[in-house]
Formats: sequence, C-alpha cells, structure tokens
Amino acid sequence: MKKTIRDLDVSGKRVFVRVDFNVPLDEAGNVADDTRIKAVLPTLEYLRAQGGMIILASHMGRPDGKVVPELRMDPVAKRLSELLGVPVRKLDDCIGAEVSEAVRQMKPGDVVLLENVRFHPEEKKNDPEFAQELASLADYYVNDAFGSAHRAHASVVGVASLLPAVAGFLMEKELNILGKALENPKRPFVVILGGKKVSDKIGVIRNMLTKVDTLLIGGGMAYTFLKAKGYEVGNSIVDEQNLEFAREMLAEAERRGIRLILPVDVVIAREISADTETRIVDSSAIPEGWQGLDIGPKTAQLFAAEVSRAGLVIWNGPMGVFEVEPFAAGTRTVAEALAKSSAESIIGGGDSAAAVTQMGFADAMTHVSTGGGASLEYLEGKVLPGIAVLHER
Ligand code: 3PG
Repeated sequence: MKKTIRDLDVSGKRVFVRVDFNVPLDEAGNVADDTRIKAVLPTLEYLRAQGGMIILASHMGRPDGKVVPELRMDPVAKRLSELLGVPVRKLDDCIGAEVSEAVRQMKPGDVVLLENVRFHPEEKKNDPEFAQELASLADYYVNDAFGSAHRAHASVVGVASLLPAVAGFLMEKELNILGKALENPKRPFVVILGGKKVSDKIGVIRNMLTKVDTLLIGGGMAYTFLKAKGYEVGNSIVDEQNLEFAREMLAEAERRGIRLILPVDVVIAREISADTETRIVDSSAIPEGWQGLDIGPKTAQLFAAEVSRAGLVIWNGPMGVFEVEPFAAGTRTVAEALAKSSAESIIGGGDSAAAVTQMGFADAMTHVSTGGGASLEYLEGKVLPGIAVLHER
C-alpha cells in the first residue's frame, strides 16, 4: 500500500503535484476533453482545504525538449481555474528565478501551474540537476498522474526520489481498482482487446493468458490472428512480424483451456470513409481489395453475450474504426452490453476510454482509467517507475 496525501500534514507547506494534463485541444486552442483535469480535482480540493500550496506540473504532447507555443499549458490553467473555482496562476517556465520567486510568494490555498515540463530536454532524460531544481520548489511530492506513471522522467521519478513522495487520490483509485481486479478477479474474467497494433499488446496478451477465462480479440489486431489461423484477410491490416506470435498465443490459449474468441464476421470496405460501400462477410472470406474495419453483427452479439455473463471485464482498444460511423457499430454494441452488464467493468484509457465517453456509456462503467499506455503496462504486469518510487505505508 502506498502512502497517500492523507499521510501528510500539508498545512503551510508547498506541495509539488505531478498531474497528467496531457489533454486534447480543439482548433481554437481550448481544452477539448477535460476528463483528466476533472479527475484530479478531489486531490487539489483536499490539499487546499488542508492549507497546502499547490505547484502543479505536467507535460502536454511531445515537444521534443523545445518550446512549442501550441503546447503551452495556458488553456489547461484556464479550464482548471473554472473547475476549481479559484485563480490558477500559469507560470511561463517550470524552473528558474522567476518560477522560484512566484512560488516563494504563494499563500496557503494558492495554486500555480508550471509550464510544460517537456519544453526542457532534461525532463525525459530524468536529468538529476533538473529534478533537483524542480524539487527545490516544494516540501512534498504528490503523484496524481497515473497516465504518466510508466515514464521514468524527471517530474515523475527524479523529483519523487528527492522529496517525501506519496500518491494523490486519483493514483490511489486507479491502483486500488486495477490492482484489486487483477489480484482477485471476479469470474468469469473476460478481457477484450482491440485497437490497431498487435505489437502494442504483446505483453498484455501474454500476461492476460495466465489470468483470464475468456479473451475476446477485435479491432485491427484481430486480422493478424485470423491470418495466423490461415484465413484470407484481403487488404486488412496485418502485422506480418507478429504472425508467429499470434500462432503461439492461439496454441497457448488452447493449452491453458482459455477461450480465445476471434471475430466470426466482419464489416469490410475498400477504403475508410463515411460514404464508402460496406459489406458484412464471414471472417474467413474477406475478398481481395477489401479490408476488415469493424467486427460484424454476429461477432458483436457473441462478444456482448460473453460480457453479459462475466464477473469482471477489462477492455482495452476499440473493435473497429469507431471514429467513422459505418465502422462504429461493433464498438457501440460491446460498450452498450458492458454498460448493461452487472459485471465489474474497467476501461483501459486511450481510444477505448474516448469511445465509451463519446458514445455516452462512461458513467455506466465501474471505472474508466485515465491512463492509456500506463494502463496497458500495468496489465502487462510491469512495475511502473512512477509508482515504484512512491513511499510505502
Ligand atoms: C498519455 O497520454 O498516455 C500520457 O500522458 C503519456 O504521454 P506520452 O505517451 O507522450 O509519454
């Protein structure tokens, strides 16, 4: 069990809080999805109520160690200030004399947001001097950035090793829900994997095959498995380098007595566009020149039936190109079944979280993780460096 902010006395203290404000912006440069900002409000409200001074740090995008004006944190400060109902002072850097002075002038309850930490190349290198400069701003370190916990960067690991370091409420919640679900899964335990790339999910498939009762595979990655079974998949996306891996996993599932279920039918088209001609075919009969872009209705029903009798479902990766309407039905049917099911339902972050949120099912899930890459690495059974460095109770 990690220590949390409940274990600190922050009254009159400066608290460096690493958050994951890597949020999408719209064309006008405003925050397009504030889920990750809302998710840390309980931590910030608690710290303010205890009389702490809050110094927030985050990255946004991948600016590659340079100042990229479109990736400044100003729109986030604006949205956070609206949500928190207090001014949030956005600073123009994350280190340096001006930052130290601004932090020195803070009063209990004040909130400042540092500039994008990735504007400095030292952040990703976990440079010790850079970490020391960040750490010199505060008395305590709090990590409430589950979404960044898989990155061994300065603001995630370096600063945490220099100050008393504990988890925020969002981090605590993510670890409690994901950790408990995996430790003692309610059965039947069903994992649904989708998304484009098999290569992103290799570790997850290996680890999940030691834990689940049923593994459902949809999305772009399914075609590599279908081809590994010897099916013709036309122009569907196939990860040739992982065909052997797919064969191995099919054999491994059989050896372990795990039900690994692939699509039995798919929605195909010649191209990805909203007005293209589509057909529904058996997954063993995708014609040349056509590609599979969603699971078909029979598969969606099959997956929905598995979900409805599950004890625990963890879902990571959409079932098709859900952003384009003709290929959204598979993801929608599975999301709806999960929303109706009495199973404990956990949505890994990233695209699957975006899909259930857009489709209006997020509130019906037990938990929608704020971590994309981080939740995948967690499901792989890896120790995330940003979590390892936090103090144990
Ligand atoms: C995420 O959105 O998954 C996190 O903020 C991590 O971002 P990164 O993949 O650029 O490190």
